[in-house]
Amino acid sequence: MVARVIPVDPFDLVIFGGTGDLARRKILPGLYRRFRDGQMPAEARMIGAARSDMTAEAYRELARSALEDHVAAERRDPETVARFLGQLGYVAIDVHGDKGWLDLADAMRPGHVQAFYFSVAPGLFGTLAEKLHDHKVAGPDARIVVEKPFGHDLGSARTLNATLAAHFDEHQIYRIDHYLGKETVQNLMAVRFANMLFEPLWNAQFVDHVQITVAETVGVGGRGSYYDGSGAMRDMVQNHIMQLLCLIAMEPPNRFEPDAVRDEKLKVIRALDPVAPGDIVRGQYVPTNGTPGYLEDAGNPDSRTESYVAMKVHVSNWRWKGTPFYLRTGKRLRARSSEIAVTFREPPHSIFGESERWAENVLIIRLQPNEGIKLKVMIKEPGPGGMRLVNVPLDMSFADALGEGGNDIPDAYERLIMDVIRGNQTLFMRGDEVDAAWAWTDPVIAAWQERGDRPVPYDAGTSGPEDALMLMHRDGRRWREIRP
Ligand code: BG6
Repeated sequence: MVARVIPVDPFDLVIFGGTGDLARRKILPGLYRRFRDGQMPAEARMIGAARSDMTAEAYRELARSALEDHVAAERRDPETVARFLGQLGYVAIDVHGDKGWLDLADAMRPGHVQAFYFSVAPGLFGTLAEKLHDHKVAGPDARIVVEKPFGHDLGSARTLNATLAAHFDEHQIYRIDHYLGKETVQNLMAVRFANMLFEPLWNAQFVDHVQITVAETVGVGGRGSYYDGSGAMRDMVQNHIMQLLCLIAMEPPNRFEPDAVRDEKLKVIRALDPVAPGDIVRGQYVPTNGTPGYLEDAGNPDSRTESYVAMKVHVSNWRWKGTPFYLRTGKRLRARSSEIAVTFREPPHSIFGESERWAENVLIIRLQPNEGIKLKVMIKEPGPGGMRLVNVPLDMSFADALGEGGNDIPDAYERLIMDVIRGNQTLFMRGDEVDAAWAWTDPVIAAWQERGDRPVPYDAGTSGPEDALMLMHRDGRRWREIRP
């Protein structure tokens, strides 16, 4: 199945932090792939902006090497790469001073979509917004794209929202959570709201519990100083996992439109109960078989920051009363594996008698790797000899089901950047959502800080701390295995 590509309007996209890691790994390669697929008009222009004094030519060379490192060779024919690089420019800019701002203002073409991507340290978000406004760089309909972390807590997020709001309207602010750009995350909405099959069962009467897992094999080495001030709760739960939880738990929006979707997500966040201290397990990986432990990676021998967190949360509303949501995420785990598993309740009565063990129906939405959807159902074990039941998966791997198109899923960033150009905010967080997410997260963190809790140790390459198993065992449930 070949993906439909709908071209976007001509645009000027300025990438602040254009020489940085995110620009090289994700933004430039993503833009190139959209270009190669024919989505970008010839008049589109992308301008790197950063502190270094370099020529546009030197910036194009930097971009070329980013493409070499992050775009598959078969997608990099020299002619296409050259045409793409021809649409790149560069402006050296001093974020705190005046240098470069006039040049940037001159480079903006009236009548084109204008977007400014803030791929810089979070401390600079407010300053950039001010400068764009003061130097009259941004036109009245310009869009700004703000990376995470959006604040460190409720207070700082509110301050940042207020600073941005002083210069840009909410409809101009695109707060990125790249999880919302992942194909399967959007598929979650398609599965729920484009099929009759699941929605009638999508409530506490039929769903026993939900598990959301985002497991990573990487440690925090290389970004220890950021991470140590953050931890898994702020780095992953407050944003990515919260968004997944919202998409699973929200009421059907009346249309797939920005405010309709975001209103429903917001209601979920506001319906979250405070988490009881006994319902959270925090972990920290320790040195294992030669791999350094968290303390070394973080460069802080006394750190109490968690690299793993598991918790049980409740969404207090009619739909979900009585269905717990178990969330977990961690670094240096057994495998890179992110999935959502919705486990349905047992049928009320077994006609097959006691001897036939019943296994749960589970709908598994696999985010990465091997994106796909699986539904575990009971069937009869083949062959003679009576009625024996067996639990098997109805398996839909996107790669198999969609042919070549399934293997060529656009990266979250490229999709989200094109949404910015189109002016579609559906997959971006609104200010009040971020606010509500912090309002729920802050007391959880404050509680463990007050108690001076230390995270429990776990070995690298495992499923995380033993205590996390207990979190489910005591409820008579089990985590799904973390598998690649
Ligand atoms: C980022 C976090 O937002 O998401 C990282 O800061 C994490 O700590 C990353 O590794 C995970 O993203 P993905 O797309 O690789 O699952």
